Amino acid sequence: MNPDPQLHDLFTLLRFSSISTDPAHQPQMQACAAWVAEKMSCLGFSSTIHPTPGHPIVLARKKPSPGKKTVLIYGHYDVQPVDPLHLWTHPPFEPHLENGIITARGATDNKGQFLAHILGVQETLDSGTELPVNLIFLIEGEEEIGSPHLPAFLEQHREELACDVIVISDTGMIAPGLPTFTYGLRGIAALELFLTGPDKDLHSGIYGGAVANPITVLARLLGTLHDEQGRVRIPGFYSQVRELQSWEREAWKKLPLGDSDLLQLTGSPALAGEDGYSALERCYARPTAELNGISGGYQGEGTKTVLPSRASAKLTFRLVPDQDPDIILEQACQHLREHCPRTVHLEIKTGHSGKPYLVDPHNPYGQAAQRALARAFDHAEPALIREGGSIPIVATFKEVLGVDTLLLGLALPDCRAHSPNENFPVANFKAGIRLNQELLRELA
Ligand code: BES
Ligand code: ZN
Repeated sequence: MNPDPQLHDLFTLLRFSSISTDPAHQPQMQACAAWVAEKMSCLGFSSTIHPTPGHPIVLARKKPSPGKKTVLIYGHYDVQPVDPLHLWTHPPFEPHLENGIITARGATDNKGQFLAHILGVQETLDSGTELPVNLIFLIEGEEEIGSPHLPAFLEQHREELACDVIVISDTGMIAPGLPTFTYGLRGIAALELFLTGPDKDLHSGIYGGAVANPITVLARLLGTLHDEQGRVRIPGFYSQVRELQSWEREAWKKLPLGDSDLLQLTGSPALAGEDGYSALERCYARPTAELNGISGGYQGEGTKTVLPSRASAKLTFRLVPDQDPDIILEQACQHLREHCPRTVHLEIKTGHSGKPYLVDPHNPYGQAAQRALARAFDHAEPALIREGGSIPIVATFKEVLGVDTLLLGLALPDCRAHSPNENFPVANFKAGIRLNQELLRELA
């Protein structure tokens, strides 16, 4: 057992292989939800595990005291798949601590971050202090697959979930020790396209040259998505995009994360993207069309002279205010259909989606959160940023519960979320525990 009980809890939580996208991990999802619910019960919360057609939602709350504000803290216990496994220096579900850094899948995204809030509450209660606000914890298991069942849950439990503000630590910090307040997230819209040529794989010598090769057609089709200036070529794609405000551009220029830092973090040979914007601006405030996967033909060792029957690609669009995922998907489907030649059949399946989010960082809750951030991080002045990643439920919280979300991330730029060797410094975990206490005091 780890002699530090807080790290012991984190390591226990990290040992569940709670990969939401993979049905093989369903029992671990259940077990992980049960552990979270039990942890909350031990802190005197009444906690319930709500089954959904997918993975369960854990809801925990204290008996509310009238007159106090109500804060809802959201997190997710599901994680992304671990492949490619051979690139991990330690097994992803056996947390490893070295030089103050914890390496494990979920360490930063999001188990380390939401557990810090739970343990912050535990420290308050252990010190015999009353919680300054009424608290609800909502910890779901489907964030990494687009939260498909959470919107209906919010509708069904609207009254029970009524609150003044929502708090999430599932975003990043600009640099170690630099507290960061995120006031915007990109939205997302996913689709998958399938091209079918011949009704079976063919001998590429016997038939090659006589019919279209679906991989070639796919490559050309995907090539129509961007122009030479790095802009997305889908008609109408930019029509609802809100331009960056000048104060944002000025503030972001001063951040200690310039183009060269971003280049170094990615490990790419060069930066690329839409002309006229810095790398940070492209990630925070410009929309993209991104290919996430492509397949077709022979993938095994050596060669195989095949003319494949099928080829497919997975795409996601990252969206910014005021783009609407449904409209973007419609425009994308139309563009792909128009550019696809009749030599193949095209099938498109749309996937999950989530709206972008943007809030005024200077509103009273934003200011309270920034005071708490400064206190938790040695009085450093918080950076104000938007993030390129998505937390689809945040826009839904606003729509269904009518409240804003404070995004107080603890992940570092090199945390390797979704990659091999995901990691989280113990210092950030402990800062999160302090942050929770400062924050609840400020929000009271
Ligand atoms: N924690 C991330 C979101 C995030 C990461 C926000 C970095 C800001 C900075 C979250 O767990 C995540 O990965 N979300 C997915 C959502 C998608 C699967 C619907 C994402 O952004 O890809
Ligand atoms: Zn994630």
